[in-house]
Amino acid sequence: MTTADKRRAFEPALPALDLFPIQLWTRLIARQWSRNGPELLDSLGYGDAAGHVRLRAAIAQYVGAARGVACEAAQVFVTNGLQHSLEMICRALVEPGESIWFEDPAYPPGRAALAATVAQVVLVPVDAEGIDVAAGLAKSPTPRLIYVTPSHQFPLGMMMSVARRIQLLEAARRSDAWIVEDDYDGEYRHRTAPVPAIQGMDSDGRVIYLGSFSKSLFPALRLGYVIVPPSVAETFLRARALAGRTLSAVDQLVVADFIELGHFERHIRRMRAAYRERQEALVESAAKHLAGLAVVEPTDAGMHSLAWLEAIDDVAASREAAAENLEAAALSAFCGEVKLPDALVLGYGAVTPRQIRVATEALGRALERARRL
Ligand SMILES: Cc1ncc(COP(=O)(O)O)c(C=O)c1O
Repeated sequence: MTTADKRRAFEPALPALDLFPIQLWTRLIARQWSRNGPELLDSLGYGDAAGHVRLRAAIAQYVGAARGVACEAAQVFVTNGLQHSLEMICRALVEPGESIWFEDPAYPPGRAALAATVAQVVLVPVDAEGIDVAAGLAKSPTPRLIYVTPSHQFPLGMMMSVARRIQLLEAARRSDAWIVEDDYDGEYRHRTAPVPAIQGMDSDGRVIYLGSFSKSLFPALRLGYVIVPPSVAETFLRARALAGRTLSAVDQLVVADFIELGHFERHIRRMRAAYRERQEALVESAAKHLAGLAVVEPTDAGMHSLAWLEAIDDVAASREAAAENLEAAALSAFCGEVKLPDALVLGYGAVTPRQIRVATEALGRALERARRL
């Protein structure tokens, strides 16, 4: 049995590490270190806290082409990932006691990062079209910040409708709020073209766009970015400097090379095909091994699916799954105030179709036990 076989299957949001082009990455690292002259020496110093200028330019170019985000390199700030980005946004733009709308359910580390700031977090439910703007206004009529995952709601998976995007932009304009658009896996549409970001629809300069290489490359890289409207680029630069220098400039230049040389685009294309195949394997295996226990519906995006449980408590199901060495998270663990039907969040990104079939059979055994509890 290989190490990959031993890894706990279904960990949500882990990408296909088994398909990462390690040899190519190693060559790009060697290329960076073998550069002679100013660029190598420059990358060995303290560097710019906002990020290396070449990486900022490469990101601006990529998000423009792939995600419809309109920006210049000076609006792009390199960070350590989502929590680091949220902390800086709050430091730059939120006063003590101001409120932040946060989707419910959502990614708990994001909520925790915001709850630790001077702001007051207001949980806003989502419906089939995305964040429920009317419910948000009823709970907190003048938010300063609105956090959303419009391309692929985490963890429920729907895409925010165009009507809701317009309503959200309008509500933000009226209350003079910033929209924080977390586009953590927006490039992963399996069959249809990716839907452009809200940032590109914003004529008012109030969308802050968050990206991450955790899903598109690998999470250990700890590389994310914030793209701010030009009006707050200076303010944000000060907040970014306070948060300290993070990722090594050498690594930043390797990522810049990976993007500029066209490898990133090819990698995303390959990953899209792999995730489509992995999701199909999960849906097929679930129909075979989870019949009468859970339903896994096909979706067109991302790296995780929901298994809706049939009269089984999701916490008990998750615990029994852990006993089978599976990391199947209970949907209720992502909920704040909302109560949703019982479900498991199954990440299929990091598991091969063969492993998915074995793991789904094991999940069936776990669900049989959980049902008897
Ligand atoms: C909703 C959401 N946003 C962002 C991220 C990425 O976080 P980070 O950039 O800190 O790795 C994740 C990772 O799972 C996520 O689920």
